[in-house]
Amino acid sequence: MSQSTDPSPLVRDWVRDAAQAMDQAGLFFGHGTASAWDEACWVVAWGLDMAPNFSKAVGDRRISVDLVGRLDDVVERRIRTRQPMAYLLGEAWLGPLKFKVNSHALVPRSPLAELIGEGFAPWVEIEAIRRVLDVGTGCGCLACLAAQTWPHLSVEAVDVSPEAVALAQENVTRLRLDEQVKIHLSDLFSALDNQRFDVIMANPPYVPERTMETLPEEYGHEPKLGLAAGEDGLDVVIPLVQQAKSHLTPSGVLICEVGEAQPAFDAWAQDHRLEITWLEFEHGGEGVFLAEASALAAVSP
Ligand SMILES: C[S@@+](CC[C@H](N)C(=O)[O-])C[C@H]1O[C@@H](n2cnc3c(N)ncnc32)[C@H](O)[C@@H]1O
Repeated sequence: MSQSTDPSPLVRDWVRDAAQAMDQAGLFFGHGTASAWDEACWVVAWGLDMAPNFSKAVGDRRISVDLVGRLDDVVERRIRTRQPMAYLLGEAWLGPLKFKVNSHALVPRSPLAELIGEGFAPWVEIEAIRRVLDVGTGCGCLACLAAQTWPHLSVEAVDVSPEAVALAQENVTRLRLDEQVKIHLSDLFSALDNQRFDVIMANPPYVPERTMETLPEEYGHEPKLGLAAGEDGLDVVIPLVQQAKSHLTPSGVLICEVGEAQPAFDAWAQDHRLEITWLEFEHGGEGVFLAEASALAAVSP
């Protein structure tokens, strides 16, 4: 991808050329990065075995001829196949953590990561709670982030996809969180008996059928089970909301991402007299609501 004739270019020159090539190819960015530049930095970081938020000084390093070949190959495949970069590299970052990823789980990007970093403030007193559940854990990213950030928490995580469960378990072990995070194969709460949690967080599938057809090609490489959720995007969200009350402590909260299904869910909540709060994010993201256990208990059937 390097357009310079130098076989061993500076990092910053390779990043510039790769970003330009990806921009010109009209790729979609939104699977863990927001721009071609960010993706080019990520590829270099992957090649140099460092985190993508490397310092400016790294830009002055030279890339070996061998490595240039490998990096160029990744960019060429990104352009040719439109796969999200995370799948090509086999890794994705959420906050400070690196996860193994594959096409059986969505690429981590949920705004719930910001809430976890803040200890779910001001809604939860993080030091006073113990048990967190992550519904639809995918590669295990939110569960691991919560456990790593708040070592006093005990985290359970469920997913209905056996392949996602295997991947999540691998990430838990790689991050040495086996004591703190338990992964279960489960359709929503089915494998959890009567367990109750202080916080249930969920990023379930919520893309309405019509929207699925219009998504950029990159989304077609992600598992449909992680995205598609029926005509209005609420096929998984509604049973999740209806069942959550049986798995929350009396002062517990459900925090759930519904993305573009926000208007449909808002209408459903009003019809069912469910009091919810839509949360705001400093670093971008929307369509995340919070419901208290008492509100969920009072919801009309
Ligand atoms: C949007 S992805 C979220 C993955 C991960 N939590 C994240 O934020 O990157 C939704 C996940 O929910 C899982 N899922 C779909 N239906 C489910 C169900 N009924 N019970 C449990 N998990 C489900 C999918 O397999 C997928 O991994």
